[in-house]
Amino acid sequence: MLHSMARVNRLMDHEQYIRYIEKINELEKERRFCKHGFEHGLSVARIAYTYLLEKGNMDISKEGIYAAALLHDIGRWVEYQTGEDHAEASARLALPLLEECGFRAEEIHVISIGIREHRRHHGGNLSPLGQALAIADDWSRECRSCSAQTLCYKFKPEMKQIVY
Ligand SMILES: [Fe+2]
Ligand SMILES: [Fe+2]
Repeated sequence: MLHSMARVNRLMDHEQYIRYIEKINELEKERRFCKHGFEHGLSVARIAYTYLLEKGNMDISKEGIYAAALLHDIGRWVEYQTGEDHAEASARLALPLLEECGFRAEEIHVISIGIREHRRHHGGNLSPLGQALAIADDWSRECRSCSAQTLCYKFKPEMKQIVY
C-alpha cells in the first residue's frame, strides 16, 4: 500500500526546517563525528519505520514516523549555542512546523514524546516511536570505516557489523 507523504514533503520544504538544517550544517562543518543534517534524519526515518513495521507495533502513521525522525535532531544548533538538551529543543521547535504541515493534535503529541525520548537508549518505558528513534539513531551510523572510532563515545566493535 502506498502512503501519502504529502505532509512530510511539506515539512522538508518548510522555510524553518531548511533554516535549522542549514544552521546545523554550518555548526558541524568541522565535526569529525556523525553529523545531524538532512541525511541523518532520513536514515533514521527509514530505519525507524521498517523497525516498527517489522515489530508490528506502531503508535503512529508512516508519515508521523518520518516527520519525527526528520525533526528529532532539529534543535542541535540550540544545544551548540546554549547548552540546552537537543531532544527538548527539537521537540519544541518541531511543534509549529508540525502544525503548519497539517499534522493533527494526537499525532503531534506522539511525535513530541518520541523526539523527547530519542536519547534515552537504556531507559525503560519508552513509547514505541521513542524506542524506534533511539535504536535507529545508532543503527543509522556508518561506523565501519570511520576515522573517529577511537574517539567516539558511541563506538563499539559491534557497530562495524550489520545488526539490522
Ligand atoms: Fe539526537
Ligand atoms: Fe540523531
